[in-house]
Amino acid sequence: MINSYVDRGDGSKWDKERKLTRRAIDAANNMHPKPKFFIVCGDLVDSFPGTSSDDKVKKEQIQDFKIDFKTLDSNIPLICVCGNHDVGNSPTQDSVEKYKESFGDDYFSFWVGGVKFLVLNSQYYKDSSQVPEQKEEQDVWLETQLQNDGWQHLVVFHHIPWFLESPDEEDQYFNIDIDVRKTMLKRFHDAGVKKIFCGHYHRNAGGFDEDLEVVVTSAVGCQMGEDKSGFRVVTVKETEIQHKYYDLGQVPKNIDLE
Ligand SMILES: [Fe+2]
Repeated sequence: MINSYVDRGDGSKWDKERKLTRRAIDAANNMHPKPKFFIVCGDLVDSFPGTSSDDKVKKEQIQDFKIDFKTLDSNIPLICVCGNHDVGNSPTQDSVEKYKESFGDDYFSFWVGGVKFLVLNSQYYKDSSQVPEQKEEQDVWLETQLQNDGWQHLVVFHHIPWFLESPDEEDQYFNIDIDVRKTMLKRFHDAGVKKIFCGHYHRNAGGFDEDLEVVVTSAVGCQMGEDKSGFRVVTVKETEIQHKYYDLGQVPKNIDLE
């Protein structure tokens, strides 16, 4: 994306993204205590699914993504979230299956200590016209996951933010349409979710819907605003969740958990 969007090339090089990815991984490896996991909130690679030549580039990019993330400390699990570049703006059964072959499930939950995390495929909320059954399956599954089965915090991750600044903002490419947005935010509210972390915008943003915060994090790779390549460090305490975005050169080595 840096090659096509910033350098006005044909998108056939991704060495800049690879360098930035390695720097992000190094910074995570050097943190104390080590992160409980490292999550990439979608668009794992730039190339969209499509023609056979697109798929060839995509395969190479996925291969390089995996080579680079092998350098992530083996004690830090890598969690992958599915984005529009991963399954397409209007996903198909085939694009979702191919994603799952490369990266595993497109929606799932996991626990770390007393915290439960949900990872969703937000493409089902953006455009499910070609995959109505998969969308329905995720919705049914989500309902079961939103029951409180003993979590201290319930945290949600997906790619496209419900909103960028305000729950009432107008529909656009980088958010989810307001009808779906309102319905879903209410479901999360009712379940007691306080934080939802997203990507997609290539800029830091976010806002509140009452006490529910949608946090939009810029990219390790291509920037579309004034932010620099970096990642967000999230600190989870018993009663609160704090988060801060760091440029790659400024990621702290020591994280204060007091
Ligand atoms: Fe995206």
